[in-house]
Amino acid sequence: MNTHLHVTAWALAIILFIVSLVLHKQGKEKAAKIVQMILRLDYLLILYSGGDLIMHYLNGSGAMTAEAIVKGLAGVGVIAGMEMTLGKIKDGDSAKVGWSVLLISILITIILGFFRLPGGLM
Ligand code: HEM
Repeated sequence: MNTHLHVTAWALAIILFIVSLVLHKQGKEKAAKIVQMILRLDYLLILYSGGDLIMHYLNGSGAMTAEAIVKGLAGVGVIAGMEMTLGKIKDGDSAKVGWSVLLISILITIILGFFRLPGGLM
């Protein structure tokens, strides 16, 4: 149930992040900003659904709890990476650090989320 919400929320975040980037590249600053505001609301859904998934591990047998927590931290890293990247690009600065945080966090998130932790896509 909540895995469903989690997948929907992070898939939406990736889409909104890309849309905001493209709008910025097209010079549509106002639209890019609005999309980023919606993205920020979506972070709340990600944090809520992800936090709920972690609670299941904390309340459960304890098996793989550490990996679930690292997965959650990497998830927060994805959000931080998105914010840093969009912020720097908006200011016209180099977004290298933001992109690095984003890519490394996404990598850890996908490896732990899909290949280590038991929950699948649905
Ligand atoms: C944009 C950021 C995030 C992305 C791209 C992401 C991606 C994923 C993916 C691909 C999975 C595996 C498929 C699934 O079961 O849903 C997953 C599961 C999970 N996520 Fe996230 N996530 C993000 C943020 C978070 C946050 C912020 C938390 C914690 C606060 C979190 C906690 C979890 C947990 C505990 C699972 C384990 C589900 C299981 O396999 O039992 N995630 N996430």
